[in-house]
Amino acid sequence: MSYPTPLYSHAGRGHFRDVYEPAEDSFLLMDALEKDAQKLQLLSPSVCVEVGSGSGVVSAFLASIVGPSALYICTDVNPEAAQCTKETASCNRVSLQPVVTDLVGSRGIEAAWAGGKRGREVTDRFLPLVSQLLSADGLFYLIAVAENDPEEIIRSLGNYGLTGESCLSTRARNERLSVLRFHRKGT
Ligand SMILES: C[S@@+](CC[C@H](N)C(=O)[O-])C[C@H]1O[C@@H](n2cnc3c(N)ncnc32)[C@H](O)[C@@H]1O
Repeated sequence: MSYPTPLYSHAGRGHFRDVYEPAEDSFLLMDALEKDAQKLQLLSPSVCVEVGSGSGVVSAFLASIVGPSALYICTDVNPEAAQCTKETASCNRVSLQPVVTDLVGSRGIEAAWAGGKRGREVTDRFLPLVSQLLSADGLFYLIAVAENDPEEIIRSLGNYGLTGESCLSTRARNERLSVLRFHRKGT
């Protein structure tokens, strides 16, 4: 089954001009979630968290797959992103809870960014929190470019009891983009 891309034409312009407009990384993450739709529906998570939600399009997409029984928390440091996420929720008739915060104030399953050494300044602050936040059968999705050294991220989360693999990848504007998916070892 295929799921429509949520409406997001308000992102990156007007009142939301400083909000990240969905791009190849957002679409790749949505493709990975769509590929895992059955798995996610069987999992039936009660809480889904997107760290760095920007427009909120990815969480709106996840909500269309998993349905309204889950609580969708969307964190972002940018207050405009929180407003934009609210607008995206309303346009797409889903319920998302934006929270303006650094990283997480709650439980988490997905994230992505650049900046710092190997482009991993924010990701490296977040990785140690993942195993504390992820439920026993939860899934964590992370977008990485080759410069982020995805293999090292997989090794590093292995030390926190998580098993990971690249579940989807593509080449966009000369960058190799991968979606990494993690779960707890032995589950
Ligand atoms: C590349 S955008 C991705 C947006 C969205 N996930 C998507 O795929 O379209 C990264 C987002 O992370 C947010 N961000 C950056 N640092 C953050 C932090 N420390 N805590 C929470 N959000 C952060 C940015 O404001 C931005 O909206």
